[in-house]
Amino acid sequence: MSKNPASPFDEIINRREVPALKTHPMVLGENNEHLFAAGVADMDFKAPPPVLAALQKRLEHGVFGYEAVPAKLFPAIINWQQQRHNWQIDPSHILRAPNILNILAIAASLFTDEGDGVIVQPPVFFDFFDILSENHRRLISNPLILEDGRYRMDFDDLEIKAADPRTKMIYLCNPHNPVGRVWSTDELKQLGDICQRHNVLVVSDEIHADITFPGHSYTPFAALGSDYADNCISCLSPAKSFNIAACSQSFTIIFNDTRRKAFQVENSRLTVNKNNSFASAAMLAAYTQGGPWLDDVLDYIQNNVVTVSQHLAAIPEIELIEPEGTFLLWLDFRKLNLEPKQLTAFLKQKANWAVTRGEAFGKEGEGFARLNIACPHAVLETALKQLATAISNR
Ligand SMILES: Cc1ncc(COP(=O)(O)O)c(C=O)c1O
Repeated sequence: MSKNPASPFDEIINRREVPALKTHPMVLGENNEHLFAAGVADMDFKAPPPVLAALQKRLEHGVFGYEAVPAKLFPAIINWQQQRHNWQIDPSHILRAPNILNILAIAASLFTDEGDGVIVQPPVFFDFFDILSENHRRLISNPLILEDGRYRMDFDDLEIKAADPRTKMIYLCNPHNPVGRVWSTDELKQLGDICQRHNVLVVSDEIHADITFPGHSYTPFAALGSDYADNCISCLSPAKSFNIAACSQSFTIIFNDTRRKAFQVENSRLTVNKNNSFASAAMLAAYTQGGPWLDDVLDYIQNNVVTVSQHLAAIPEIELIEPEGTFLLWLDFRKLNLEPKQLTAFLKQKANWAVTRGEAFGKEGEGFARLNIACPHAVLETALKQLATAISNR
């Protein structure tokens, strides 16, 4: 039973009523109704009530002609970052973008050349790999080190990779998907110092910024100081925090004037700078009124972490990498001694688990899988029981 039986997050909503990616045949294959869909990184919860009300109000207005960005939007972004993360942002440094992947792609294409190296820290969000290969950039791997159940960065290796004059950029994932680390100020400074020494531009994907657990607080890379900010493209979005990925926009904070102007010109060239009235309404409501909902959902997700932890305590073959943030859990199945394909098949066929295969995050993810726990507690409980049965029937 959930700690809070009256929680709105207990409601089981049929994602198949809309073409949700998480339950889509594209992701799950056909005949998938029996599967626990826990792959795609969104939540199975309704968006915050103030967001729904703002969308409803905007809909009722009925006219959807061209629109400017609401005057209150940038102040709302600034206020959120200041109150929640103690980060002061200059309004003139904010640029809008359709989504985070778009910012990552534009940053690579603007500030590196074809064939240049871009560092990533696997196991890491797989779209980083695709963006780099589609933009003909060389992927330079600086794998994270797993030590005593916790991941850390390999700074010695980073220094070597960054020192190569053909390495021009790093995609930092802060907090990190999928290993759930919320990088500390010291770790970020160490990374930032190495990158500054070798003229490697830090593109910091901070989409999971708001989703951290007690005892761990997110540090915006650009808030480390003006030297760090000057060498950074920050990527932010309300998509994960308020579960509005399909109805949202993102934004980048660029401190350096030359780079910001270049980004602005590119946005304009690609004509991706139009306002979407629904995305703006959702974002504004989220950042001005969504705080209490976010606190509640974080409690709920944390309770789900405890549930997973309790169930896995009875399954010695599976280890949970303790998350510091994100609603994504990184599970270590290596004791099962299964090849990556066998592990995916085992989870899907024997436990009805459709999670994200670990090797999608790089070869360092082999033997692991990523579990999305932003779902009703009862759904998670059922899935965990299915997993326990599958393991004991092996
Ligand atoms: C680290 C990270 N960056 C970016 C994205 C995607 O962001 P967007 O939908 O804004 O492109 C995700 C989604 O899972 C993510 O986990």
